[in-house]
Amino acid sequence: MAQLWGGRFTKETDKLVYNFNASISFDQKFYEQDIRGSKAHVKMLAKQGILTEKERDQILEGLEGILADVKAGRLAITSEYEDIHSFVEANLIDRIGDPGKKLHTGRSRNDQVALDMKLYVRDEIDEIDQEIKSLLEALQKIMEENVHTYMPGFTHLQKAQPVTLAHHVGAYFEMFRRDRGRLFDIRKRMNTCPLGAGALAGTTYPLDREYTAQLLDFDEPTRNSMDSVSDRDYVIELLSALSTVMMHLSRFSEEIILWNSNEYRFVEIDDAYSTGSSIMPQKKNPDIAELVRGKTGRVYGALTSILTTMKGIPLAYNKDMQEDKELTFDAIDTVKGCLALFTGMVSTMQFNKANMEASAKNGFTNATDAADYLVNHGVPFRDAHGIVGQLVLKCIEKGISLDELSLEEYKEISPVFEQDIYEAISMKTCVEKRMTLGAPGPDVMEQVIAGNKKYLEAN
Ligand code: ARG
Repeated sequence: MAQLWGGRFTKETDKLVYNFNASISFDQKFYEQDIRGSKAHVKMLAKQGILTEKERDQILEGLEGILADVKAGRLAITSEYEDIHSFVEANLIDRIGDPGKKLHTGRSRNDQVALDMKLYVRDEIDEIDQEIKSLLEALQKIMEENVHTYMPGFTHLQKAQPVTLAHHVGAYFEMFRRDRGRLFDIRKRMNTCPLGAGALAGTTYPLDREYTAQLLDFDEPTRNSMDSVSDRDYVIELLSALSTVMMHLSRFSEEIILWNSNEYRFVEIDDAYSTGSSIMPQKKNPDIAELVRGKTGRVYGALTSILTTMKGIPLAYNKDMQEDKELTFDAIDTVKGCLALFTGMVSTMQFNKANMEASAKNGFTNATDAADYLVNHGVPFRDAHGIVGQLVLKCIEKGISLDELSLEEYKEISPVFEQDIYEAISMKTCVEKRMTLGAPGPDVMEQVIAGNKKYLEAN
């Protein structure tokens, strides 16, 4: 047991207590951020004359050596240290002797861990953002290729009106684009540096907090030292944004599972992204989509957990806050994994365009357009609705679709119908006439796709 704080104790810490309290098993994940923060701190201490330039250089060299050795697997992070901060400091002292003992001048583990967590979260936000961008690029490709691929649009999971695959996938493009926007906002809001807040009340050393903030690419230092060490709002915001990402992935997964089912057959998930059954030889299961849907629960759980942990904590730092790490790390890793797999799955998936179009045709998705035809010929909409309702009933009795009724049958119910009704309710007309911005009509869809392209190039 290597601790930083033995001085005022007369007894050894109980082994169980030590293990319960220790965080090294998980906070080693941010050893790189911990060392980055320490380097900035040391540079600032020297600039302020608190350390000599020689001490600074010795410490920097020591820290860089530790970083290189851990990265290369030459130095193992072991549980004999309480946390990653203790590990780095003890190793530094081992390497360079007395100057290493000055590293922690004007700093507490409270502002140190607040900094490490922020650096880690900020780095991960950038990585997740790139993963979402890759997904958006995959969706954009599907959109570009499927402006004329007709499929049923659903409400209540009942066929409603025809849309295109580009339009349907475009809805998810919007969702994931908003997700990136949320990450961007969080990153901006959290980008203040807590280093220099000390344990809770700042420090008596003449620290230059602007300088460390700048060295670590923060916009500015935090403004209240008590808040600095006890703020985990950005963790909550991140987990909320990640929960929303997972909710979007889960909805899309659910649709892919349906589309891949024997009943729909809209898509075929690539063999590389499917799994088999140990007993049923014919099976090819959409396990990846199901797992993504399932893992959504873990990420929601992390959000609920941190909200609950934080709700009763008095100012300032309390050890409860150590609980922010495992769940945040798990949520981040889960989301990154799900995004990468999901992107691979959608970009290798085959779309059965003929099945999609056939499904759109035989679900009366053109009934609204048949009513609109009557309206265009002077029939009030409510009457038109009733007339087409009767036509649909007739079709159901005969087991056919609206475009398979004869003109005589149309005319029996309303004399307004003429030969051009067939053109008016064709899949092509139904889709292409929907030309308002945001609708599936190919011209407006192309505009949206062009806008997406610009957005992806610029962001
Ligand atoms: N492992 C601790 C955490 O994650 C580091 C801060 C310890 N500070 C303290 N006062 N015991 O929160």
